[in-house]
Amino acid sequence: MISPFDPLTFPCGVRMKNRFLLGPLTNTQSHADGTISEEEFNWLVLRAKGNFGMILTCASHVQANGQGFRGQLGIFDEHHKEGLSKLASSIQSHDSLALVQLYHGGMRADPTLIKGSPVAPSNVERKGARGMTLQEVHTLRDDFVKAAVRAQRCGFDGVQLHGAHGYLIAQFISEKFNQRTDAYGKSFANRSRLLFEIIEGIRSVCGDEFILGVRLSPEKFGMQLREVKMICQKIDNAGIVDWIDLSLWDSFKYPEEEEHKEKSFLQHFADLNFKNTVISVAGKIRTARDVQDILDSKIDAVSIGTGAILHHDFPMRIKRDSNFESVSLPVTAGHLEGEGVSENFIQYLSLRDGFVKTKNHT
Ligand SMILES: Cc1cc2nc3c(=O)[nH]c(=O)nc-3n(C[C@H](O)[C@H](O)[C@H](O)COP(=O)(O)O)c2cc1C
Repeated sequence: MISPFDPLTFPCGVRMKNRFLLGPLTNTQSHADGTISEEEFNWLVLRAKGNFGMILTCASHVQANGQGFRGQLGIFDEHHKEGLSKLASSIQSHDSLALVQLYHGGMRADPTLIKGSPVAPSNVERKGARGMTLQEVHTLRDDFVKAAVRAQRCGFDGVQLHGAHGYLIAQFISEKFNQRTDAYGKSFANRSRLLFEIIEGIRSVCGDEFILGVRLSPEKFGMQLREVKMICQKIDNAGIVDWIDLSLWDSFKYPEEEEHKEKSFLQHFADLNFKNTVISVAGKIRTARDVQDILDSKIDAVSIGTGAILHHDFPMRIKRDSNFESVSLPVTAGHLEGEGVSENFIQYLSLRDGFVKTKNHT
């Protein structure tokens, strides 16, 4: 039986001290120009002190027009480097791995924060998004690679490509949102081309000792489980990605698509029998029992979101108490402040139903 405190070595050779990853969490604490603020720095470093084996930043845009949230961390320009370098070394000083999640919002970029209209694989009228030219697709691919190089120069141990939740990489993969007729549209091979070109670009420039991860989500936003499994298989066969992080909304969930309902997502992915790739899952992992159940299902690591907002030391609590359960939602703003969550982030969390206690809660 694998313990969550067993170390894990990624195919690139980098070792993680345990199986707990801090999931990427948008926290709206960065400065308007995308540089990291003291609040965001403190929020992440406190989780490294709390014994997470890996700390991922929030989704960080690789082009200025990819910004989806106010106060989002940027990695599209050299002026982001100073703060990011300090972040990487501080996280690593607590024996935790430091990674940046690379992203572009595409049609989900916020038009009030970017210049011009949002971009997408093809026009999406309802979102006011315009289809990208072929030249823009090539520039986007190159900017993902440049952002990975920037992260490496800042001292990060690796990057994760955000291919989940309906953002630009996922929009390209999706049959629903990608109506292109060139080499990046129509067939599955063409729709997944952008992702694989970014992967190959990063691996060839950043070398073999840099952790390269991909985050995928199996349903919603026009994704089909069958195709997400095909991408996983293709990644595993290629053997150049270290790790796939599956964002499952609820790790114990069963698929909504009729043809796949016979088994849970965990089972669907575990049955792929990955040979070259580490697998982690995210979604409602709140107790010591949940963590162990996931590791017992042939999954290598757990990616913690809400549990890590609620408890900066989620891994340590599990170490101390094998029956540990996170506090239940909603929680008070005072509880969150005690866990190093700034007022700004608390306000963002308050937009989520049932996260932060209001006067209406008894
Ligand atoms: C406040 C908040 C911000 C999030 N931001 C991101 C993000 O930047 N990138 C991403 O891939 N997922 C993001 N997610 C999804 C989480 O990483 C995670 O997959 C999801 O919350 C399910 O895990 P949980 O139940 O442990 O929270 C966010 C979730 C929350 C609650």
